[in-house]
Amino acid sequence: MYRRLIKPILFFFDPEKVHNFIFFIIKWSFKIPGLKYTIRKIFSYENPKLERTLWGITFKNPIGLAAGFDKDAKLYNELSYFGFGFIEIGTLTPEGQGGNVKKRLFRLTDDSALINRMGFNNQGVESAIERLKKNKNVIIGGNIGKNKKTSNLLAFEDYEKCFISLFPYVDYFSVNVSSPNTPNLRELQDKKPLKKILMSLTELNNKQINKKPILLKISPDLNKQQLLDIIKIIETVGLDGVIATNTTIDRSQIKSNTSFINEPGGLSGKPLSEKSNDVIRFISKESNNRFPIIGVGGIHSPEDAIDKINAGASLVQLYTGFIYEGPGLIKKINKKLVESIN
Ligand code: FNR
Repeated sequence: MYRRLIKPILFFFDPEKVHNFIFFIIKWSFKIPGLKYTIRKIFSYENPKLERTLWGITFKNPIGLAAGFDKDAKLYNELSYFGFGFIEIGTLTPEGQGGNVKKRLFRLTDDSALINRMGFNNQGVESAIERLKKNKNVIIGGNIGKNKKTSNLLAFEDYEKCFISLFPYVDYFSVNVSSPNTPNLRELQDKKPLKKILMSLTELNNKQINKKPILLKISPDLNKQQLLDIIKIIETVGLDGVIATNTTIDRSQIKSNTSFINEPGGLSGKPLSEKSNDVIRFISKESNNRFPIIGVGGIHSPEDAIDKINAGASLVQLYTGFIYEGPGLIKKINKKLVESIN
């Protein structure tokens, strides 16, 4: 029903406006008594075989919602009824910021892809915390970044601020140094600045009574040497894992003749799938599976999720597939995972 009826109507309108409209509709419709339970009945699929325990956290299934969809933690409780095992909020920055000028989100329909250059539009970490206080048992990843106005030299302070503020309210952290839409952010993936950020966060983490897992979210556009350097840093610092990958600036996998091909920003969806699988496979092999990987990029079917798991991912996330395939995708993947275990 979503692909035949709802999607063609939604896809008629501007993607960012549709995103905000959907948030509004879900938020208000969940106030109708009983509706959330109906949604859960339709879209959730539970089976003990889907459970995964990592970093001492038990995920009821390995399918998460990727960062960027619920940046401000406004809808995670409602979204959990659609069957996700966990939800990553953010990217959050210490101060709220508007992001890049609109229009900044484009659909490449024939490629089942999106290009976005949102630029970390968010209301700031403190505002998200107020909403995170209302968490009804959803496993939350806190994706953190730096404000646009903060120089790369002082970026570590922004990550520290977000880390300290969010600490009581999230289950794991995702350190985002891989968005192509904040000028020079991806340079933070270089050895020196990366080590600085990760070491300062790890030190803060070590001071807490119960440490929280810290993962690094990386770009699919890194070369093999850069990936090897990152593996080394992760092991030296004692980080807990990697989220692979963010969006790509590579356009070579786009097959359709779309005019959006030259829009600056990060490409997500089907054309990203193989590229992110290659990164997952490489890291998993070169690190001898010494730390868990969350695989993300181009999951539009159960087979895509299984490919990521076979490449070395312990958990997976999706965003663009949720837009193109609809909320039924999560249940479909989970069902197939159970079948594949049998
Ligand atoms: C994103 N993504 C993203 N990632 C991140 O770490 N912080 C963010 O704020 C955002 N924002 C964002 C906005 C939009 C509109 C999109 C489409 C994506 C990247 C996202 O989490 C994911 O890594 C990629 O989109 C690849 O997965 P999919 O979309 O191919 O499943």
